Amino acid sequence: MNYKRLEGRVALITGAARGIGRSFAERYIAEGAKVVIGDVNIERAEETAKELGENCIALSLDVTKQDSIDTCVTESIARMGKIDILINNAALFSAAPTVEIERKDFDKLYAVNVAGSLFTAQAVAKHMIERGEGGKIINMASQAGRRGEPLVAVYCSTKAAIISLTQSLGLDLIKHGINVNAISPGVVDGEHWDIVDAFFAKYENLQPGEKKKQVAKGVPHGRMGVAEDLTGMAVFLASSDADYIVAQTYNVDGGQWMS
Ligand SMILES: NC(=O)c1ccc[n+]([C@@H]2O[C@H](COP(=O)([O-])OP(=O)(O)OC[C@H]3O[C@@H](n4cnc5c(N)ncnc54)[C@H](O)[C@@H]3O)[C@@H](O)[C@H]2O)c1
Repeated sequence: MNYKRLEGRVALITGAARGIGRSFAERYIAEGAKVVIGDVNIERAEETAKELGENCIALSLDVTKQDSIDTCVTESIARMGKIDILINNAALFSAAPTVEIERKDFDKLYAVNVAGSLFTAQAVAKHMIERGEGGKIINMASQAGRRGEPLVAVYCSTKAAIISLTQSLGLDLIKHGINVNAISPGVVDGEHWDIVDAFFAKYENLQPGEKKKQVAKGVPHGRMGVAEDLTGMAVFLASSDADYIVAQTYNVDGGQWMS
């Protein structure tokens, strides 16, 4: 069977200027979808959209600002006609020992990772409900949300919140034919993990790149993930094959976590 699984669909993917979101955008386009990249880094988003071709546009989006979310959703609909799929992918990472956690860092991560995902989902859900044709909302959780880590209290707890939000929104929105589910990656190499690696180098006195080597050894599959490892699940959850799946978080992590 050789068919495009997202033919005719329109997806808004937050934080898709680079990394995992960019791979989602590329794969969705290959599956027949049109994609809006919504990212706070508009220069990088425009560059990415240009590389991905005519079925991709970039819009400025800061998920911490309600007017930015509303403008991005309105403009996505104006330019693409509708939104069938939202991937809440934008997020920030930070790490610090408990006694060094700063309130401003906590507020920033919660504003992007948690409030950003909730209020972007809300704005897109309003459009989906009004349109009356259902939709798919995919949140990005993490193995970090499955259990704590000594240096990663804030980020881990934002990702635990994403798993919880996925459950509540999933149960509420399914009556409108909107499936809300999440993907929980493990360790995925890329610019995000360069940032993670630098935090651990600082707090665990490691050479740059050392933490990556350590975590790669711990993955049952035998290597760190790459963004492309996640795209199959993102297509599946956005497709009609996932119509009966509600409020779930799927581990795509090389065997790191079982639940
Ligand atoms: N890389 C990993 O190992 C890993 C593991 C588990 C979960 N995840 C999750 O997967 C998702 C993507 O991760 P990634 O590795 O591609 O991250 P990344 O840091 O490479 O990309 C994040 C993107 O979000 C954008 N962004 C940041 N703040 C924003 C804001 N306020 N509004 C809009 N956009 C904003 C950035 O500009 C960037 O393009 C995130 O939710 C992350 O938490 C990643």
